[in-house]
Formats: sequence, C-alpha cells, structure tokens
Amino acid sequence: MNRIQGRTVLITGASSGIGRASAKAFASFGANLILCARRQDRLAAFKHELEREHGLPVRIKTLDVRDRQAVETFVAELEKDGAIPDVLLNNAGKALGLHLLHEGLVEDWEEMIDTNVKGLLYVTRAVLPLMVERNTGHVVNIGSIAGHQVYQKGAVYCASKFGVRALNEGMALDLLGTNVKVTSIDPGLAETEFSQVRFHGDTERARTVYQGYQPLRPEDIAEIITFVVNTPDHVNISDLVVLPTAQRSAHMVHKELPQG
Ligand SMILES: NC(=O)c1ccc[n+]([C@@H]2O[C@H](COP(=O)([O-])OP(=O)(O)OC[C@H]3O[C@@H](n4cnc5c(N)ncnc54)[C@H](OP(=O)(O)O)[C@@H]3O)[C@@H](O)[C@H]2O)c1
Repeated sequence: MNRIQGRTVLITGASSGIGRASAKAFASFGANLILCARRQDRLAAFKHELEREHGLPVRIKTLDVRDRQAVETFVAELEKDGAIPDVLLNNAGKALGLHLLHEGLVEDWEEMIDTNVKGLLYVTRAVLPLMVERNTGHVVNIGSIAGHQVYQKGAVYCASKFGVRALNEGMALDLLGTNVKVTSIDPGLAETEFSQVRFHGDTERARTVYQGYQPLRPEDIAEIITFVVNTPDHVNISDLVVLPTAQRSAHMVHKELPQG
C-alpha cells in the first residue's frame, strides 16, 4: 500500500548520500519533494533528474541549516505557498575529524554541533508547529549508532548524535496526544560522502573506511525510511538501529582485507 503518494516531504542534506537516496525513494512513491542543501548546483541537477524520471515538481532550496534566520524565512515561504511538509527528514549532518579529545579541533566541534544539533533544532522548531496545528505529520531524524555507543576519537560527533537521540525522544514525549509521529533512524557504516567530509577531502583515507566488508548503501537506509513513513497512522516506529551485517557495534566491524 502506498500511503506516501501526494504527501509533501522536506529533506535536509538532499544533495548527497542518504538524503539524496531518500529523495529518490520518496519520488518513486509519488511524493512532492522539497529538497535543501548548501550546494545549489547539485540540487539543480538533481531536481532536473527527478522531474524527468518521475514527472513530479520538485522544489529546491539552497539552505544552510545553521542559518536560523534563513531557515525561518524559508519555512514561512513554504507556509505562505501552502507547501507545508507532511514529512520532515532531518538528515543534514556530518562528522569532522578523528582526534583524541585533548587534541581536537574546536572549529570542527563547532561545525558538528551547529549542524547536527542546532541546525536540526532550527528546522524542527520552524516546521513542527505547522504539523501540530494540523495534527498530522512525521519527523524522521537521522541519528547514528554513534548516538548509542561512543568510540575513541569520535567523542564530539558521538555527543552530537547522543543529542539527536535525546531530541528524538524529547520530541516524541512533547507530542504526546497529537498525531504527529517521530522516528529516529540510526545507521552504522554507510558508504556516502560522510568519510570524505570527515577527513576534509582525503578520498584515499575515506576509501579505507569501507574496505574489506559490505557497508550499507544509502539506498538501504532510504528504503527503510520510506517503509517507516509508509506505516499506518496508528503505527509509530520510534528508533531503528541499522548496521551492515559485518558490523555489530560502533567498534566492531569484521573486515577481510588482502594480506600484505
Ligand atoms: N554515512 C554514515 O556512515 C552515517 C552513519 C550514521 C549516521 N549518518 C548520518 O547520516 C546523515 C547523512 O549523512 P551521509 O552519510 O548521507 O553524508 P553525506 O553524503 O556527506 O551527506 C550529508 C548531506 O548533508 C548536507 N549538509 C551538510 N552540512 C549542511 C548544512 N550546514 N546545511 C545543510 N545541509 C548540510 C550535505 O549537503 P551540502 O554539503 O550540499 O550542504 C549533504 O547533502 C548525517 O546526519 C550523518 O551524521 C551517516
């Protein structure tokens, strides 16, 4: 059954990885898409591709989720145009660096916290009242296995994703008595641009993260997100941890690497 067709889905971080794959998956269900990210050229090309393949209008917006004013203005525009999201996919996020805490780069910490926690909050604060007012909607937050277990040299990224988990739980509690649903999807290792971003463009180092096992593909997560959103109104999946079969915890990954 398709309960997604005709619904309006707002995705942050739709220019790459999980956000991009989710946009494709929602388009295949016939959703109306609103796609945000900072890279305008990527979004414009993607809009073209989706509209050609699915024949549905796609709205794009160059948006930095850290810019609170821009977020508020954009959501006010959506409201004015009657394009109120039925689904908000809070996906924009990143890890930066792998450092012992006492050697960490404060600029990286600030960018992670500003994007993963504060950016998510800005978008949610703007969109959620519109859902509450209509007494319908679904917020899907992209957390991480890093929101359940801390790994060495990743304390600040993990703290930001523990924060997302707390916000997911808090949102769900605060929406008690409404029909607005809240879900966190918490992936393990997924092959996207995530590690390239983490290692500041060092593609060789990024590639090694995904060697010797089959990581998640962004399409795997997208399929799960559409499954979760497609559940009946009275069913709410609150938190899903999704790992590659070769990964059993934040720290344990079975890799088969060539000898030598
Ligand atoms: N890949 C993994 O192993 C993994 C595991 C667990 C959780 N996650 C989470 O999954 C989410 C998606 O990451 P991904 O793996 O798909 O990585 P990705 O390929 O790097 O995609 C990240 C997306 O976020 C956008 N973004 C980054 N900063 C932004 C900002 N300030 N404002 C708006 N958009 C911004 C990027 O677009 P622009 O650069 O164009 O803005 C891009 O579209 C993140 O929250 C990440 O923490 C990933």
